[in-house]
Amino acid sequence: MVPESEYDHELTWILKAASTSAQRLQFDELLRKTDGAFPSDVLSAARRLDLQIDFADHEALEVRDGPDPSPAQGEFYFDRATAKFLASALMGRVLLLGAPSVAAELTHQDRPLTLVDSSPWLNERFGITGSLRVGTVETFRAGAAFDSAVLDPPWYFPEMTTWLSIAANAVKAGGTILMPLLGRLTRPSATRDRIEILEMASRVGSVSVVENVVAYDSPHFERRAIARSGGRLGREWRRASLLKISRSDADIEPLLVRNQDPSTVWVDRRIGQSIVSIRRKNPESGTRPVVHLLDGISRRDPRIAASNVWTSESTAAVVDRPEVLLDELSQVESSWSSATRALLDRLEIDH
Ligand SMILES: C[S@@+](CC[C@H](N)C(=O)[O-])C[C@H]1O[C@@H](n2cnc3c(N)ncnc32)[C@H](O)[C@@H]1O
Repeated sequence: MVPESEYDHELTWILKAASTSAQRLQFDELLRKTDGAFPSDVLSAARRLDLQIDFADHEALEVRDGPDPSPAQGEFYFDRATAKFLASALMGRVLLLGAPSVAAELTHQDRPLTLVDSSPWLNERFGITGSLRVGTVETFRAGAAFDSAVLDPPWYFPEMTTWLSIAANAVKAGGTILMPLLGRLTRPSATRDRIEILEMASRVGSVSVVENVVAYDSPHFERRAIARSGGRLGREWRRASLLKISRSDADIEPLLVRNQDPSTVWVDRRIGQSIVSIRRKNPESGTRPVVHLLDGISRRDPRIAASNVWTSESTAAVVDRPEVLLDELSQVESSWSSATRALLDRLEIDH
């Protein structure tokens, strides 16, 4: 783990360098320079340095059909140009692991595909046809049946390396695997994390990286968090690099998927346009029920790490009996208790 102070130092250094060429800094432009650092963190660092930041007058951001993306499932979608570009780079029999926007592009082009993704709302969001398997990537096995693949797991371990090993075993020798690589300032450990992924990729085949060519739409939950820190996005900001692997014929051991403690698994419930994710983890003894209005989206945030409810409005809560809430939200709305309704109000969920 890279010490936080080194991370802060690098972020401060980039901001200082940017401020030498302009009296006032445009927030959107600054975010393009800070290599994945979360906008609220960039804003706090800029305030510590007393920099003058200007925000765009209005948002020019993508909004999709279907329910809002879920922060607990890491639902960050590519912008249309990126999805098109990735679709054009895929040949033959195509496998998509957690890449529904690329599946949508292939569907538009009437090309066959296999998509594995756990979200039940992809048809509504993307109108995907083709082979859609709603389920976890971790349980998917195919033998070397595909010519090319895109994977975009949530940017955490073990997901990133486990999904890469699954893609490596599903793609034939000579085939292509594409994977976004998180920016160096996405979090304090990101430089190290990139090295770990690149090391594994080099065992899968020959590797090339093109910096900052992958662009993402900003999900509603992210914009809510940025707004709470006093910022406003004018346009999309998140970029990643693109890792391209030409699959060699080397054997890659499938990484063992450890059985996850079921109490840590987030389960999504839809309420109108919103998603409420709940995990059955009981609060630590002595923890009082609490609601958080979040200004960040990282699972490392201690408020999120301690919570058992997390929503697409970037709110979170510690509740006493999460399984009761989960059951209740699975019932028709008329049977919800007044306590649940009050909690949803505090979580800023429109019901
Ligand atoms: C980081 S997003 C990538 C989306 C991609 N950028 C796109 O535009 O198509 C992760 C995707 O993986 C899905 N997902 C998250 N965890 C999963 C799991 N364990 N198994 C299968 N899908 C998962 C989410 O529903 C989401 O579509």
